[in-house]
Amino acid sequence: MPVYCITGTNRGLGLEFVRQLAQSSDNTIIAATRSLSSDLGDLKTVASPSTHILECDTSSVASIHSFVKAVSRTLGDDKKIDFLLNSAGVNLASSQSSLNLGPDEVQAQIAVNVIGPAKTVEFLLDAGLLSKDVRVLNMTSGLASMQLSSESKPRKCAGYSISKAALNMLTVHQSEDLKQHLPGAVVILMDPGWVKTRLGGAGAMLEPSESIGDVLGVLHNLGSEDNGSFFHHSGKKIPW
Ligand SMILES: NC(=O)c1ccc[n+]([C@@H]2O[C@H](COP(=O)([O-])OP(=O)(O)OC[C@H]3O[C@@H](n4cnc5c(N)ncnc54)[C@H](OP(=O)(O)O)[C@@H]3O)[C@@H](O)[C@H]2O)c1
Repeated sequence: MPVYCITGTNRGLGLEFVRQLAQSSDNTIIAATRSLSSDLGDLKTVASPSTHILECDTSSVASIHSFVKAVSRTLGDDKKIDFLLNSAGVNLASSQSSLNLGPDEVQAQIAVNVIGPAKTVEFLLDAGLLSKDVRVLNMTSGLASMQLSSESKPRKCAGYSISKAALNMLTVHQSEDLKQHLPGAVVILMDPGWVKTRLGGAGAMLEPSESIGDVLGVLHNLGSEDNGSFFHHSGKKIPW
């Protein structure tokens, strides 16, 4: 009876994770969403009876604290999180290049794309809510790869790319630090591909169902040797 905890589930890839996972009544799902006041119609439509919709604004340390308390109340003493999927993310001001970066936009992206996953893992660990063999997936991008970005002309989405590269380094650290507490933990990075969501745009290559179907296949076959790896949704490793 695995427990999944997913951030950013009201739309996009987070919603698709819930849709696919809710098809098994064995799965307990913590579906985190930035605001319980926003339109959660799509999420409620795909949710199963064992899906719990909780508020978590991953740009706010206080909100992540409150969320972890709510997760603790929801799971009780018996259940812990087996799969933590940090999917919430933002790509702001994608037209900005390295020569006209907006400090506010960069900081806002660092808050959601880096500090959010860092504090979510930290606070869930501190609350004893991660299982001993937890799998943590941080949703990154091919734009975070130094090698792939070096080969791309023109360069794209500078601020977003920088924030996701920072997420990659966070993951390198988490993959070792978490094992000090939970020796069976595996922490990975996932590039979902270019997917038709609000972030990816209508011209993207993949449907959310294809991308997330692949991602779950990789997630469910992870071994200890994969800790700290940077995966493409196909299961291939991406060059750093
Ligand atoms: N789609 C792609 O082609 C693609 C490619 C590479 C990587 N990714 C990554 O995949 C992940 C999901 O992207 P997506 O395509 O599903 O994007 P999306 O359609 O724009 O959805 C983003 C999700 O993140 C949530 N979110 C944003 N800020 C948040 C915050 N402060 N607190 C909590 N939730 C927040 C949004 O909630 P609200 O509606 O409340 O804002 C929404 O649920 C992101 O990390 C993204 O960087 C996507």
